[in-house]
Amino acid sequence: MRKRTAAIRGHEWRDEYGSPIPPVYLTAIFEQIGEARKSDRGLDLKYAREENPTVRAFERAVAKVEGGGDALAFNSGMAAISALAIYLLASGDGLLTTKEAYGATLRLFGELSNKYGIKLRKVFPDTEAVVEALKEKPKVLFVETITNPTLRVLDMPEVLKAAKDVGAIAVVDNTFATPALFNPMAHGADYVVHSATKYIAGHNDVVGGVVVTKEVDSGLWTYRAMLGGIMQPFEAFLCARGLKTMHLRVKEQSASALAVAEFLAEHSKVREVIYPGLPTHPHYDVARKLFGGSYGGVVSFRVKGGRAEVEKFLSSLKLITPSPSLGGAETIATYPILSAASPIPPEDREELGITEDLIRLSVGLEDVEDIIEDLDHALRSIG
Ligand SMILES: Cc1ncc(COP(=O)(O)O)c(C=O)c1O
Repeated sequence: MRKRTAAIRGHEWRDEYGSPIPPVYLTAIFEQIGEARKSDRGLDLKYAREENPTVRAFERAVAKVEGGGDALAFNSGMAAISALAIYLLASGDGLLTTKEAYGATLRLFGELSNKYGIKLRKVFPDTEAVVEALKEKPKVLFVETITNPTLRVLDMPEVLKAAKDVGAIAVVDNTFATPALFNPMAHGADYVVHSATKYIAGHNDVVGGVVVTKEVDSGLWTYRAMLGGIMQPFEAFLCARGLKTMHLRVKEQSASALAVAEFLAEHSKVREVIYPGLPTHPHYDVARKLFGGSYGGVVSFRVKGGRAEVEKFLSSLKLITPSPSLGGAETIATYPILSAASPIPPEDREELGITEDLIRLSVGLEDVEDIIEDLDHALRSIG
């Protein structure tokens, strides 16, 4: 089954009524007389902290879309990442990641290092630095396909090959690139994580997370049941519904994002535009090689000025919502230093270029002319 078909049919739902849509199973309990009933994955289905048929249907679909053998859904992206990190790492293990990554992920890794003795190393987010640091043979490598907010693109096939050569477990956060643009497992990733809140669900109306695995990982399944972070059935229904249109949305959002990036690049109030689809981006060639001509829906840019000008810009927007998050139908403008990037230490922010003038846009599905008009109007309001 191809990816686009899997997004729609991959849940393989069959029921006695002939409905092709998985229903919302609102139950906390399942009958158990002797041994627990088993779900199609072969693990217990006796209590909804372990499995739920609606959640299971979403997991079957998202696993196929990412090219994995199985998936586990969680009640947020961070629930997915924290369960996986706690499952994979023990005191004394090495964890390699990049200085630029989602803020709460970095905060979690910092806590694991300070409180539980994980040896954390953070390097500059480029292919050479990650490949070099892998020579220290960390137990786990955790990288993002497109980093947030300066949208760097690692040469993931090269990084994953280097991880394999040293026996590191490779975890890729594929939230920004989405399975529509790139499938890390096809290049050797061991686990792929997502904030399903973003492009998978796609409508800014649900929080969820996913870990895609190569095969059924009963150890991780046990950790999810133990830590209690399973996705809830109505959220799974929304995520499964969102997944069906993900490919279309990402294609459209990528096209609009490119148009927005080109518009911003010419604007007199804009100092710099950062978008992997612009030839001026340092990783444009890698992005072109990996993503097949679309570059995602997120564009970052620097205004001429600082915090006062950014706040003026954000407060002048009429259509676009100033808010954290990304990946939904509504265009969102985010101020990274006060949201996702706030846990990144100031010296790293300086090195990465996460400065006071930086704004991140998640381009939505509105008419791109309306998005551009709103940006133009808000930029003109800057003195
Ligand atoms: C790249 C990335 N990973 C993980 C997360 C965490 O996901 P959630 O907010 O669903 O917990 C986010 C959230 O913004 C993110 O951008």
